[in-house]
Amino acid sequence: MTTQTPQSDNVITQQAQAILRQNDRGGYTIPTDRLYPYQWNWDSAFVSLGFATFDLDRAWKEIETLFEAQWPNGMVPHIVFRADDPNYFPGPSVYGVQQDPPTSGYTQPPVATSAIRWLYETDHNVGEARMRALFSKCLAWHRWFHRERDPDQQGFITITHPWEARDNAPDWDKPFANIDVSGVGTYQRRDLNHVDVDARPKKFDYDRYLTIVKYGRENEWDQNILVSQGPFRIADPGITFILHRADRDLQFLAATLGETEAEAEIQQWLTRTEQGVSKLWNPEIQAYTTLDLKTGEWFDGITCAAFLAFYAGLHSNETTDKGATLIAHLERILSKVQYGLPGFDPDHPAFEPVRYWRGPVWAIINYMAVRGLEEQGYSELAQRIRNDTGQLIRNGGFPEHFSPVDGAPCGGKNFTWTAAMWLAWFS
Ligand code: DGY
Repeated sequence: MTTQTPQSDNVITQQAQAILRQNDRGGYTIPTDRLYPYQWNWDSAFVSLGFATFDLDRAWKEIETLFEAQWPNGMVPHIVFRADDPNYFPGPSVYGVQQDPPTSGYTQPPVATSAIRWLYETDHNVGEARMRALFSKCLAWHRWFHRERDPDQQGFITITHPWEARDNAPDWDKPFANIDVSGVGTYQRRDLNHVDVDARPKKFDYDRYLTIVKYGRENEWDQNILVSQGPFRIADPGITFILHRADRDLQFLAATLGETEAEAEIQQWLTRTEQGVSKLWNPEIQAYTTLDLKTGEWFDGITCAAFLAFYAGLHSNETTDKGATLIAHLERILSKVQYGLPGFDPDHPAFEPVRYWRGPVWAIINYMAVRGLEEQGYSELAQRIRNDTGQLIRNGGFPEHFSPVDGAPCGGKNFTWTAAMWLAWFS
């Protein structure tokens, strides 16, 4: 690793701010030009943390515009389509959602509530009124998660499309093999016009992505149908952990705002998840993994999502065998790569270092993993991952993700959330 001067970090900070400004479309940012020309849900949450380092008002605006697209049932959608852009497929007509502005039919991990807390903590005076205005919207979204995505009150969250979690993660290879794609029809991908094919999901994946979207559209996005009969129903530790963290942050918001009834309601969710999440501990792999709810089959590999258990607030370093077991996995995984944290276990045969969610390092995952590791007392591991993130950006700029093997930048360029994570950590 090379030693950088503080001055070069200042230049990187200016570049990162410029990316946020360039990708600003007036109150919301796009993840990157052409490849992702709309507002994405969890992108906006992370991006707000970058804006907060130099324009706090704009940081709040990023979250406020996201919530403009909230559905009447409380769901905050994963994409907000404010203008039809031919560079992206599938666009609003494929989802057929009757909303203004048009949106996708899925959600994404609720990082926004945690971001609201962090923005508030940056400046209470600026934050209090804006947090108050957003509180009931966050509460409605979390209620939606616990009601619609955990209908049997199991204490974990079901996803209904990979786009709600980690698009082409190897977790879905087996569940995907059972999906009948004969009705998918012809379609034209646009992503391959903008980025290297090796960094993207394959046609095998897209045929299934679109088949699942078709099912949602034909069933008018009825959550009950999607969760009980849909073609893709997976219990996902990643979204469960992020929601659990966000529930704790929502409870902080409720306490700060004197919303005592909401505080008690949130406590019930917290207790349920603390107990229920152990159902996602794969006894064979000895880690949290996804579980196919259609077949009852566990996924046989460890993704970066497992390590978000610490971000959720579980497994402090003084407790539990599970915490120690996870840390042993993390140490082994980090010892196999030059840069952590890989999105997937490099010892697994399905590991691919540059293909999107099958191996690359994501600055946003690192941000959550490091927060959790630090909070739970694993400061050396946290420091390793944080340093690696800084070095990846110093060497490779602001791509969508990086190879953990050699640090090569991959996917989209000038990526807003990568720039935002630099700002949040290193500016
Ligand atoms: C895509 O189109 O690749 C997105 O990840 C969907 O959210």
